[in-house]
Amino acid sequence: MSLKDKIDVHQLPVHIAIIMDGNGRWAKEKGQDRLYGHYHGVQSVRDIVEGCAELGVGYLTLYAFSTENWDRPEEEVTGLMELLVDTIKKEVEALNKNNIKLHVIGDMGMLPDYAKKELQDAIGQTAKNSGMNLVMALSYSSRWEIAEAIRKIAIDAKKGDLEPSLVNQQTLQKYLCTSQFPDPELMIRTSGEYRISNFLLYQLAYTELYFTSVLWPDFRKEELYRAIIDFQGRERRFGKISEQLEKEMDKRKEDSL
Ligand code: IPE
Ligand code: IPE
Ligand code: MG
Repeated sequence: MSLKDKIDVHQLPVHIAIIMDGNGRWAKEKGQDRLYGHYHGVQSVRDIVEGCAELGVGYLTLYAFSTENWDRPEEEVTGLMELLVDTIKKEVEALNKNNIKLHVIGDMGMLPDYAKKELQDAIGQTAKNSGMNLVMALSYSSRWEIAEAIRKIAIDAKKGDLEPSLVNQQTLQKYLCTSQFPDPELMIRTSGEYRISNFLLYQLAYTELYFTSVLWPDFRKEELYRAIIDFQGRERRFGKISEQLEKEMDKRKEDSL
């Protein structure tokens, strides 16, 4: 039985988020420069996007470039930005063939003009697709996103469009740049680091976290299947106790009879 066959397709995580980490170390192991690692990381992106779409995952969010990554050496930032934008442009055809809709979250204001334009074009060209949603987190950081949401809430409250005393979790959710997406159910981080690095801090509240020491350029479909199988073996309690969950499950079974 292959790993893929062990996945229960009725219990798939609706939304998978991935911190794609380890390109630099992968390249260093091979005596190459960091961009060589990023270049090979793109192959993993292709493989994982395809793997998720084949399985029927609804949303895949990929952390490709953080706000803090702007502080890397200029050469790496420029090379990485060109690679990311170039790849997105080249992949539009494949995205359309697979009915995948592209979204981008992050501080687009920080991107060079050519990148903004290419991204807008790619988003427009895949806008009508109704299959998997691919969310690229580019120039993204969670603290930036939350601060932006609060800024916009304050502006709307001042304008009189929002009643301050009624601001609650639903309001905040509406102002986040992920408002159209459900929270991730599974978050994967590659490369053996056990941290979140400013990624979806609010949205990960009840997400199952999966850490693997595999470096991103080596993370392919088989590794994805492993993560999903691990996810499917977990009990998600959302603050309740096991017995309550069992009762709820029995009730659901009764109701469906
Ligand atoms: C992940 O790989 C890609 C980005 C953060 C853009 P890294 O470039 O962080 O690789 P390591 O962590 O240095 O190995
Ligand atoms: C996180 O990786 C950001 C992305 C994968 C895009 P980093 O390599 O930047 O994270 P740290 O610096 O190890 O926390
Ligand atoms: Mg890293």
